[in-house]
Amino acid sequence: MDKTKIVKKYTNGEVTIVWQSEKCIHSKKCWNESEGLRSVFNPRERPWIKPEGASTEKIIEHVCKCPSGALSFYMNHEEDVKKEEITTEQVVEIVENGPLLVYGNITVKDKEGNQTQKNKVTAFCRCGQSNNKPYCDGSHVKCGFKG
Ligand code: SF4
Ligand code: FES
Repeated sequence: MDKTKIVKKYTNGEVTIVWQSEKCIHSKKCWNESEGLRSVFNPRERPWIKPEGASTEKIIEHVCKCPSGALSFYMNHEEDVKKEEITTEQVVEIVENGPLLVYGNITVKDKEGNQTQKNKVTAFCRCGQSNNKPYCDGSHVKCGFKG
């Protein structure tokens, strides 16, 4: 196996964090003291990613800030998330040079009128380059989106 192309997955049963070693530029954004999430990302420990160390919301927020696209995520079974666990208040956050994060329980209606329920955190593309619109797929890193 080519050691430079390791892809690892870590899950808390709700969200799965995907880490692609060859994309990591060691910016330390995920684990440095000022802005990282040390309870989840800590390269001095094994495994270096511990998804049980923070809430799903916090994990997604930090994964979306990875500048290289080495970190990405997917929700395991969105339909399994119990209604009572869902926050009713929505919060919208703009990630610098990245997606728009919407926290909370929302319904996304596409142009054909199909409705999808989204829970916890939804990342919407702001750069226009995603292949999975309206959602972010990490393409903002490749296209060098600034904004
Ligand atoms: S934020 Fe991304 S690029 Fe930076 S160290 Fe973590 S995984 Fe690597
Ligand atoms: S903002 Fe992430 S793909 Fe466009």
